[in-house]
Formats: sequence, C-alpha cells, structure tokens
Amino acid sequence: MLRFLPLLLLPAAFAAEPDGATLYATRCAACHDHSAETRAPAPSALKLMTPENIVLALESGTMKEQGAKLSAAEKRTVAGFLGKATAVETNAGMCADPKARFHPEGPAWNGWGVDVSNTRFEPASVARLKAGDVPNLKLKWAFAFPNTFASNAQPVIVGGRIFIAGANRRVYSLDAKTGCQYWSMETPAPVRTAITVVTVKGEITRQVAFFGDRRATAYAVDASSGELLWKTHIDDHPRAAIVGAPAYFEGRVYVGLVAGEEGPAMNPQYECCTARGGLIALDAATGKQIWKTYTVDEKPHATTKNSAGAQMWGPSGASIWSAPTVDGEKHLVYAGTGDNFSSPPTKTSDAILAFDMNTGKIVWDTQLTEGDSFNMACGQGPSRASCPEENGPDFDIGASPILVKLANGKRVLLVSQKSGVAHGLDPDHDGKVVWETRVGKGGALGGIQWGSASDGKNMYVAVSDIDFLQAQFGTGKSWW
Ligand code: HEC
Repeated sequence: MLRFLPLLLLPAAFAAEPDGATLYATRCAACHDHSAETRAPAPSALKLMTPENIVLALESGTMKEQGAKLSAAEKRTVAGFLGKATAVETNAGMCADPKARFHPEGPAWNGWGVDVSNTRFEPASVARLKAGDVPNLKLKWAFAFPNTFASNAQPVIVGGRIFIAGANRRVYSLDAKTGCQYWSMETPAPVRTAITVVTVKGEITRQVAFFGDRRATAYAVDASSGELLWKTHIDDHPRAAIVGAPAYFEGRVYVGLVAGEEGPAMNPQYECCTARGGLIALDAATGKQIWKTYTVDEKPHATTKNSAGAQMWGPSGASIWSAPTVDGEKHLVYAGTGDNFSSPPTKTSDAILAFDMNTGKIVWDTQLTEGDSFNMACGQGPSRASCPEENGPDFDIGASPILVKLANGKRVLLVSQKSGVAHGLDPDHDGKVVWETRVGKGGALGGIQWGSASDGKNMYVAVSDIDFLQAQFGTGKSWW
C-alpha cells in the first residue's frame, strides 16, 4: 500500500501556486499595462520598488483591495516578479555635520500654502527668484529617493533645508544648497502631505515638522534631528488617510481627514461606503486630540444592496483633501470638501465648511455643487454595481481655500473646484458666494485641482481638463 501513497498526493502537488508573470498578467496587467489611462504605475516604474514595499502596498496600502484576492504567498511571488530594488543604505549622501542645529530664519516656502491663509504667494520684497531668472536656472544637484519611483509631496524650504517625503515611506531633511541629507525617518505608510515647520513653545521650545501619512497618522518630529516627538492616529476607518498638509495656529495643529473609499468601491463586493471626511484639532505639543468633527454629521447606515448583492452604506465621503485655512480674526478654520461616495448625498459635500477653532462646531457651510455622490465604480461597465444613483459629477474641492484681504479692506475666500469654476466667498457674511468665474470645462480629473494662488489682487488658477473617465471607462471595460 505504501508505494501508492505518493501517487495519491500528486494532484495536490500539481495544484502549485501560479508564478509571478501569470499573477501579474491575470491580476494586475489590466490596469498597470495601461498607465496613461489608469494612472497605475507601469511595470518599469514598479521595478524601482523593493518587493517588501510592493507587498505592503498589497497588504495595507493603496492596493489593499487588489491584494485581498491574493494569498500571502501570491503577494510575495508577484512582488518578487515586479520589484527589483534592494533596500539600500539610507545614510548615503549624509551632510558632513548632520547634527548641525537648524535655524528657521530666512526665505521660506513652508507647508502647503506658505502662510496660514494659503496664498501660495511671496511678495517681491522676499522672493529672491525673479521671473526673468527662470530661463537661466541650471541643475545644481539631484537626490534620488531610494526604492521608489515617485515623491507625491510638495517640497518645502525652511532655514536653508528642504523637507520632503518620498513614496518609499521616508521623510527627509536635505540641505537646500547641496542636497546632502541631515536626517530621514521611516513611516509605516507613504506620506504625501507637504510638511509644515513651526516653532512650538512647550517645556522645551523646538522647531517641529508636522505631516501625515496615507493611513491617517499625524506626526510631529524635531526639525533639527528628525526625532519623533509624537504621533496620533486620527481615525480608525481602514481607508482613512491624510493628504493635505497640517495647518498650525496658536499651539494647535489642524489636520484634514480623507475617506479613501472611492477606489475600493470599484470592487462590486466592497460594502460602499462607511468612511467620512473630517477635521481634527490636535495639541501641537502633545498630539492630544482637542476636537474632531466629521464633515458628514450622520453616521453611515445600511441602505440598499447593489446588483452584486453587497450591502451599501451611506451617507459617506466629503473628504478634506487639502490644507485647511486659518482665519485668526474670526477664530475659524476653513476647509473644502469632496463628493459623497454613496447615496444619500449630504449638504456638506463639495462645500466650504467653517469650523469654530475652539469647539470644532461647523459655523457655516456653503455648498457649491449639490447632490454629488460618486465613486470609481461609476461608468465602469459590468463592475459599476456600487455607483450611486446620483452618478457624480465628481466636483470635489481639491485645492485649499485662499483667504485674502483686498485693497478696499474687504476679505474674500477664493475657492477652486474640479467643476472648472473659481468662486469668491464672503467670509464675513457666512460664506455667501460673491462671484463665480468658469475657467475650464471641469470633470472627474478636470477643472481646478491644486495650486491656486493669490497676491491679494488677482487669483491665479491652473486648469487640468483631461478626459479621465472617458479614457479610462469610455470602453465600458471592467478593470476589476
Ligand atoms: C483596478 C486597477 C488596478 C489593478 C487591478 C491593480 N492596480 Fe496597482 N495601482 C493602480 C493605481 C491606479 C495605482 C496608483 C494609485 C495611487 O497612486 O494612488 C496603483 C499603484 C500600485 C502600486 C504603487 C503603490 C504605492 O505605494 O505607491 C503598486 C506596488 C501596485 N499598484 C501593485 C499592483 C499589483 C502587484 C497588482 C496585481 C496584484 C495591482 N497593483 C493591481 C491600479 C491597479
């Protein structure tokens, strides 16, 4: 009898795990072989990652839903097939004196918006770079982020040092003149916020760098040494993230919360959606939460079932994607929100919300597009099971509102929207809309997304009118 045993076991041996190339072709290529349409990095870019970071992306990062369909061994196999980088020493290119003290003086481009009003403007008296100099700029140095293909964070310059995060899950402090490294710090999830550097008075007065990661943890580190001072997880939803730079004002840090479920909703089995955007006030010295206000007041409840039989939930969404704007005069913090992800829509999506600094209470809200529930299942052919009946138009407010005082003494809040419309709101009359100007066609990835600026006289806006949904979903092809 014994000699037959190996034969009986044979079928199991033949049901071997698929190899990396097969896994890639069947589970990843539909998106990653079509980067231009899907924004998924091409295999040539993924090659620059370590297998470890690819596994992390599949386990708990941006590819969590795709990874959920793979066993642990399959994740390792496909990661080993794609990722060719080996973790390198991170102390390459260290500055001669990495412990040199950091002084925040001098010209700066700090946080997302340069100032708490998010003007993104430097007056001629401060700016050293003149428009006429731009054509003559030459490359002085280059710094490669190890083990990745991207940095998604705006670099900031304070006290002659650059603070920036790479998609390799590291935050760096570099010398602006030479590119040498003062310190770097590893985070469990990638950081894509700009970094806000401020002097915080406490038992010890320090220069502190604030930022947040894509798994909703906010950090405070010593800007001189990179030493972690505190970290605070601001929301327990598994898709919660921080994308906008933290804003600092009078001992508090204001952090926007992103409810990252728009992508997962592409999976017809995903119970869309239970995450809500929000604004959180933290004590800058300790990281302790002072208040937290969801942009959607009502807790999501079970609604309908989608055509694939999965339970749907709502209301949800209304993420705060950008750095909040501080109004010291009125003691308010303003933030723009994105769309809802599921039905029913709320009156706080695609809106500017004014939060009381002391209590977190929403003092006024001005909605710029009504009834906008949307997620990435919309328009997705057979896999659009979880697209809410409102079906968009996906007109988030992605850019920070800009607070300016005009020459006539009046104040205006400048708002940029994916609808392609720029709006002027009156912060002294509960956010009443004063003017609206269309500058682009608008769309899911169109209209105005980031980077608007104002010198107090003009508003400057960049338009991104690409036909994303048409390109990605126009064929009705399922990426799932
Ligand atoms: C439904 C489309 C889709 C499928 C299927 C898909 N991806 Fe992705 N992937 C994307 C998109 C879009 C991004 C960019 C996400 C972003 O930057 O927010 C991405 C990003 C990534 C990244 C970079 C993550 C990071 O931290 O920067 C990795 C690694 C990755 N995908 C691996 C995979 C692997 C491995 C598979 C197959 C098992 C896969 N993906 C399947 C769409 C897809």
